[in-house]
Amino acid sequence: MDRVVVGVLLDRFILRRALLGRPSFERVNWYTDLAGQYDLEVLFFDIGGIDLNKGRVKGFMRGDGQGYFPAVKPIPCVIHNRMLTTNPSLNRKLYRLQNMENVCLFNPMINRNKWMVHTVLLRNEEIRPYLPETIPLRKAKDVFSLIEKHHAIYLKPVIGSVGRGIIRIRKLEYKAYKLSFWDGSEKVWSKRELVRFLRTLRRNCLIQQDVRLAKINGSPFDIRVSVQKGQDGKWMVAGMVAKVAALRKKVTNLARGGKAIPLEKVLEQSSFHEKKEELLKEIEKTSLLIAETLNQEYENIADLGLDMGIDRTGYPWFIEVNVRDQRYSFESAKEHASFRRTYENPMAYAAYLCHSMEAKYPKVMQYQPMEAAEETDQVHPMEQMDQERDQEKEHLKDQDKVQ
Ligand SMILES: Nc1ncnc2c1ncn2[C@@H]1O[C@H](COP(=O)(O)OP(=O)(O)O)[C@@H](O)[C@H]1O
Ligand SMILES: [Mg+2]
Repeated sequence: MDRVVVGVLLDRFILRRALLGRPSFERVNWYTDLAGQYDLEVLFFDIGGIDLNKGRVKGFMRGDGQGYFPAVKPIPCVIHNRMLTTNPSLNRKLYRLQNMENVCLFNPMINRNKWMVHTVLLRNEEIRPYLPETIPLRKAKDVFSLIEKHHAIYLKPVIGSVGRGIIRIRKLEYKAYKLSFWDGSEKVWSKRELVRFLRTLRRNCLIQQDVRLAKINGSPFDIRVSVQKGQDGKWMVAGMVAKVAALRKKVTNLARGGKAIPLEKVLEQSSFHEKKEELLKEIEKTSLLIAETLNQEYENIADLGLDMGIDRTGYPWFIEVNVRDQRYSFESAKEHASFRRTYENPMAYAAYLCHSMEAKYPKVMQYQPMEAAEETDQVHPMEQMDQERDQEKEHLKDQDKVQ
């Protein structure tokens, strides 16, 4: 029987590197291998390869060996989305794609606003105890009152990632305030200087209670929890790994020098190692509850990376959710089984979706034999892409001349 084709949508840059066999955050071969276990074939493409009007995609598929060849296919009914861009026109196209009838795209483009996520989670009573106190930054006064209450706060951009723009503010004696910036720099300012600085902040920010993360060798750590949907369409925890902040930094992001370490190792050395098992269960249960609650608001999410903290007393806290987990913390900590699982679950879930969509729209699923788009065996797929881009440029230039 011919296999069902599912799509994996990548950023153009990542697609390029992957097809050239260069290292990137995506293991394209794993997708193909694991999809095969579920009788699926994978078509890799970037948003530029989609022709929404014709309902076709120009992408790449793996041949019998390790090489990839170009292929033109109808838009797959099930697409695993791994692209993340701030480019409005690409996002508009993605939005149109995810709204197409008979297309099930996971994860869809959703609003990455941390305040929106917080308000959705606040509605759930069971989750509320795990949410640090958080308010949008409107008045400088609020910063000071939260510092009085919690000893220190985190100031973070409402839309942000990789720790960028995050500042921890702690009160010192004599009304001075110590600011620790995401890049490791520090400042000690008077109240007046701090107020002046807060007024200069252009982006929307949140003020959040410092949860006083537990430390290992003097550095705070938190946990990346991969929560994904799998073969049965239900949420499961694919893996957990600790991220330890670099020396003197207050953020654990790997992009800021943080180090990923197996969680077991870190918990063994912590002061709450005796209640390790209990704590892991609580984090797992809370993470699943968070995913399910977000899913009620955001349809079609299926692959999340949560940042969960543990404070010095061994109490868990929710820090944030990533909708496009790069998964490399697992690779970096050499947590091979978890790392591979983060690739397997989306393919297993794709198979689950194919079966349920087939039941819903029997005529929709495409059982198409693999076919090469053009006879391009002599040209490497990426070279062909480059040639096409150059032709496109020439074409645009010609158009300019005409106008
Ligand atoms: N309320 C907090 N208390 C303690 N540490 C925090 C808090 N908020 C953020 N951090 C630290 O900063 C890191 C980055 O914050 P996060 O909210 O995940 O933003 P980003 O989207 O930039 O990763 C976290 O992984 C954690 O180490
Ligand atoms: Mg984070």
